[in-house]
Amino acid sequence: MPLVKSGPPIDIKPPTGKLGVLTPGMGAVATTFMAGVEAIRRGISKPIGSLTQTGTVRLGKRTDNRSPLIQEFVPLAKIEDLVFGGWDLFPDDAYQAATKAGVLSKEHLEPLKGFLSKLQPMPAVFEQEYVKKLTATHFKKGKSKADLAEQVVADIEGFKKRENCERLVLVWCGSTEVYREVAPVHQSLAAFEKGLRESDPEIAPSQIYAYAALKLGIPYANGAPNLTLDTPALLELARKNSVPITGKDFKTGQTFMKTLIAPGLKARLLGVNGWYSTNILGNRDGEVLDDPESFKTKEVSKLGVLEHILQPHLYPELYGNIHHTVRINYYPPAGDNKEGWDNIDIFGWMGYPMQIKINFLCRDSILAAPLVLDLALFLDLAHRTGMSGIQEWLSFYWKSPMTPAGLYPENDVFIQLMKLKNTLRYLRGEDLITHLGAEYYD
Ligand SMILES: NC(=O)c1ccc[n+]([C@@H]2O[C@H](COP(=O)([O-])OP(=O)(O)OC[C@H]3O[C@@H](n4cnc5c(N)ncnc54)[C@H](O)[C@@H]3O)[C@@H](O)[C@H]2O)c1
Repeated sequence: MPLVKSGPPIDIKPPTGKLGVLTPGMGAVATTFMAGVEAIRRGISKPIGSLTQTGTVRLGKRTDNRSPLIQEFVPLAKIEDLVFGGWDLFPDDAYQAATKAGVLSKEHLEPLKGFLSKLQPMPAVFEQEYVKKLTATHFKKGKSKADLAEQVVADIEGFKKRENCERLVLVWCGSTEVYREVAPVHQSLAAFEKGLRESDPEIAPSQIYAYAALKLGIPYANGAPNLTLDTPALLELARKNSVPITGKDFKTGQTFMKTLIAPGLKARLLGVNGWYSTNILGNRDGEVLDDPESFKTKEVSKLGVLEHILQPHLYPELYGNIHHTVRINYYPPAGDNKEGWDNIDIFGWMGYPMQIKINFLCRDSILAAPLVLDLALFLDLAHRTGMSGIQEWLSFYWKSPMTPAGLYPENDVFIQLMKLKNTLRYLRGEDLITHLGAEYYD
């Protein structure tokens, strides 16, 4: 029995020249990402946690012994060819911002000081209404939101020229904005552009960056749970300009654990009647999330995960009545070292109750940084391959993966990884792996 046959390999433009990675938001995650890439380039660190740098992909049968590194299997940009830039609400350069964020120790930051100090943020697009807890000092002034979008376009073009980049990618590493739903101004590109000219209050700062990027044909990844791309208007622009997009909300600490554990419980058909998740976190992200409106955006993103994995409509007796709560508490002494607790009430044979307790002492930005790297490289690959619109194969990286209207997302991390690797096999004309395994018994 054959594996599932792919077609011929797809033509992928080679990754020549430099790839610019621009991050709106140069806080803990962005600077940990930039510092880490430079440390790896200098041979003083290893790309731990990065699928593009250390992952392999099995090809053919298990007996074929073919498992190349992903970075040798598909033509990804090399980390030596990455250059960085970004925007922030504060004028601190990446060295100052990383020092304040307190993720990396002095021992790691000092040797990179020269490199990081040169990474100066461009003035941000800011609106207090969208991030209530921060008081910006470094932001653009404009006659209208259309004017601000033009300034971002000029920033991007200027960066590209200055740094002599062949291609660019934007990865949002800015704060979580207040909760918003799709409004009339988001319903079409025409309505959105009119809204920009009229400075419609429903257009968020993150949407101005995304609009500028898509307008220039630059891929965009949304690292926060912000509404940003999830609007008919920006999806229309991505399609029109053939740009790949992906989001949203990096899947790192507690939600990552949730998407590991929940598929296992479901696989064994063990019931769940309660899942209480709480966190303490003391970084600037925690401070922003201390505002109930920003927390609501995060909460919606975190709560959706279980429903799509456990499918209560198919298993009402096991998962039809789950009490699922997520809390984040801002606790400054914790810094970036988030501590998460999960209490999971499950039940088994004849309804007997059991409990699972998880205490995850994680480092948020250490978990997020490799995801930024992978997303930048995979989005660039997608763009050179001619893929555009929502990149569902990158769901692996997200708490709330984007899907077209009416299609539920895959949140199970193992299905997500299989989907990602099968996409790579498909691009290279290799057989897809179904794990049917009948070929070994012919
Ligand atoms: N670290 C993780 O594990 C993780 C996981 C999922 C999502 N996230 C999200 O990633 C984002 C970054 O996290 P972080 O820990 O680096 O936070 P951070 O607060 O350290 O950094 C965010 C930076 O964005 C800046 N900013 C806010 N609004 C901006 C705007 N409109 N334009 C430009 N800059 C702006 C802030 O000034 C700040 O420096 C947050 O939204 C967070 O919720 C992080």
